[in-house]
Amino acid sequence: MKNKFNKLVLLAAILCFSSTFAQNRAPIPEVEALLKKMTLEEKIGQLNLLTPGGGVATGSVVSKNVEEKIKAGNVGGLFGVTGPDKIRKAQEIAVKKTRLGIPLLIGSDIIHGYKTTFPIPLGLSSSWDMELIEKTAQIAAQEATADGINWNFSPMVDIARDPRWGRISEGAGEDPYLGSAIAKAMVTGYQQSDLTEENTMIATVKHFALYGASEGGRDYNTTDMSRTKMFNEYLPPYKAAIDAGAESVMSSFNDVDGVPASGNKWLLTDLLRERWGFDGFVVSDYTSVNEMIAHGMGDLQAVSTLSINAGLDMDMVGEGFLTTLKKSLDEGKVSEETITTACRRILEAKYKLGLFDDPYKYSDSKRPKRDILTAANKKVAREAACKSFVLLKNENNILPLAKNAKIALVGPLADNKNNMLGTWAPTGDPQLSTPILEGLKNVAPNAQITYSKGANISNDTAYAKKINVFGPRIEISKETPEALLEEALTNAKNADVIVAVVGEASEMSGESSSRTDISIPDSQKKLINKLVETGKPVVLVLMSGRPLVITDELNLPVSILQIWHPGIEAGNAVADVLFGDYNPSGKLTASWPQNVGQIPVYHSMKTTGRPAPSTAFLKFKSQYLDAPNAPALAFGYGLSYTTFEYKNLQLNTANIEQGDDLTVTVDVTNTGDYDGEEVVQLYLHDLVRSLTPPMRTLKGFHKVFLKKGETKNVTLTLKADDLKFYNGSLEFIAEPGEFEVFVGGNSNASLKETFTLN
Ligand code: NOJ
Repeated sequence: MKNKFNKLVLLAAILCFSSTFAQNRAPIPEVEALLKKMTLEEKIGQLNLLTPGGGVATGSVVSKNVEEKIKAGNVGGLFGVTGPDKIRKAQEIAVKKTRLGIPLLIGSDIIHGYKTTFPIPLGLSSSWDMELIEKTAQIAAQEATADGINWNFSPMVDIARDPRWGRISEGAGEDPYLGSAIAKAMVTGYQQSDLTEENTMIATVKHFALYGASEGGRDYNTTDMSRTKMFNEYLPPYKAAIDAGAESVMSSFNDVDGVPASGNKWLLTDLLRERWGFDGFVVSDYTSVNEMIAHGMGDLQAVSTLSINAGLDMDMVGEGFLTTLKKSLDEGKVSEETITTACRRILEAKYKLGLFDDPYKYSDSKRPKRDILTAANKKVAREAACKSFVLLKNENNILPLAKNAKIALVGPLADNKNNMLGTWAPTGDPQLSTPILEGLKNVAPNAQITYSKGANISNDTAYAKKINVFGPRIEISKETPEALLEEALTNAKNADVIVAVVGEASEMSGESSSRTDISIPDSQKKLINKLVETGKPVVLVLMSGRPLVITDELNLPVSILQIWHPGIEAGNAVADVLFGDYNPSGKLTASWPQNVGQIPVYHSMKTTGRPAPSTAFLKFKSQYLDAPNAPALAFGYGLSYTTFEYKNLQLNTANIEQGDDLTVTVDVTNTGDYDGEEVVQLYLHDLVRSLTPPMRTLKGFHKVFLKKGETKNVTLTLKADDLKFYNGSLEFIAEPGEFEVFVGGNSNASLKETFTLN
């Protein structure tokens, strides 16, 4: 294959000078040569992405007659197919049975690990550990490529400030600064520095754009926001992923400024390519081109035309491109150059992966055994889970528990495999995960643990049916709720401590899983209250794919460890933390509201012209009659078994010039009884500027390990760009004036210094 292409290099070199290129980088001679040989139909075929089904489909249709379509040259890529042998067969059809032998892209959704499932992304983000996050992505790439995949539909970097939206679980929370750092870490993890390596794959930044801002937190809903909010608060993580080299972008389901993203030229061309210089390819979301019909944008031909002219290159599942583009070309609605440009981008991706040199490079049947679910990978999964947990409350410092404690373990999620992986882990096997009961026994064989379910996740069979689409997540016991409760209370009688594992089933968050009531389901709330009435110490181990409303539980005398959905090593990691082998260090990456009516609530809100007083209610100020403005749990919040004290905040200068960095130092002391890690956070407040500033916004963080009694002087650098924002003309600038810097262990940090930018 290589020789075939090499021969064409010369010809292509000539073509370079004569073709028009919409992209920003130099053309690839091999690709240009190939394009020259392609018919219009073959080019359109490359724009078609199919899924044969069989795996988890995320739309109501799956592709038909896939093999025939590949043979006919009508397919550019497949997704939802795994295994080196199956993929070799598919590639053989593409390579041997089509005129030009162009290999396929093989995509997949590997959101938080392939078979070694890591915590859900919202959980991983709570580790604030970029090296670890990059490592999880790199392991996901190692495992997925061993199984034949060369293109990942991840990372999802949508900023989400509405926990009703189920897909908040798939992202990094509310903040663009942290979100950008995580976007970069994940792209680097998947792609590394060389896509031609056998263990790297193309990353797809999604969902472009603003999908996390769906109105009312309802999935697939419309979004609407000002350009300045977009640029300052929602777009940075997509840009960071692109700057980190993400080769592909997925358009989102929602509309932006009234035009669905998949057909939005401003978004896909003016912003993405012309302003940001993106030169990879854009794929639609699942049938999102066709869905523009329901959005009210015209028939299939019209929406397909709109999409390709907007800059969308590949059509996922819907086949609108395949079936209408030729007609549109004949009618003068689409130019051949536009089709060629889209095709070029897809061929370039294949070229960069090295598929033209070796279409079977991801089809080595020896690799799965060698590379998947290795002990080393599982070790990282356990570490990642430990680091994702956030200690929300430690009543009377009951945690950590003694390894010989008498524990009544209760709750519908305590001895459960089906909910450990979390949402959107279609390539993982829940049966391989460690339930919490098993983990506790592994780590503390001398503990006396008695288990009882205590409650169903929900008692509502109709609700359970909606949740159980991918398997039994909510299993309603044959026993009555009263009998379940009675067993748990009897169990609790002889215990020193009650550990109750409660919360959401994994599919209560994720795609198409929006909730209007985001509290712990009633069946479990009842259990919690009855357990507290026993007077025994109660530890809630809380699982969820989103921030929950837990105002009631925070008011109870209980300890709370938030564990999200921890992945394959769930039970072992929970045991590591409960018994103190790992001291929790996670910090929330999205605020937890007091109640649903407070949404959206996030740390970087603006003051308004009538800021609320910090204490009592005052008429005519911006506040609620029935709840405070502050969330129940702030962004950046999370406890440890030890305590940290911050002192001696210093800036290297009180006056800086445009373009200068500022060095911020602070002494952090571990003042408690355990060694531990702390996420030191820096927040910035621009006091006066041409657009109303946020009260404070994250602009730096550093995770530091401190032995008990130890003090470290931590340095954080505020880069010149960190002072910038997009002004009313969307110029990225820093305006002279005064700034406040806050440093501490969460977004309420009170240690403050000021400086002036000249
Ligand atoms: C729909 C989801 O929105 C997207 O995230 C995913 O990558 C595709 N389905 C493909 O499964």
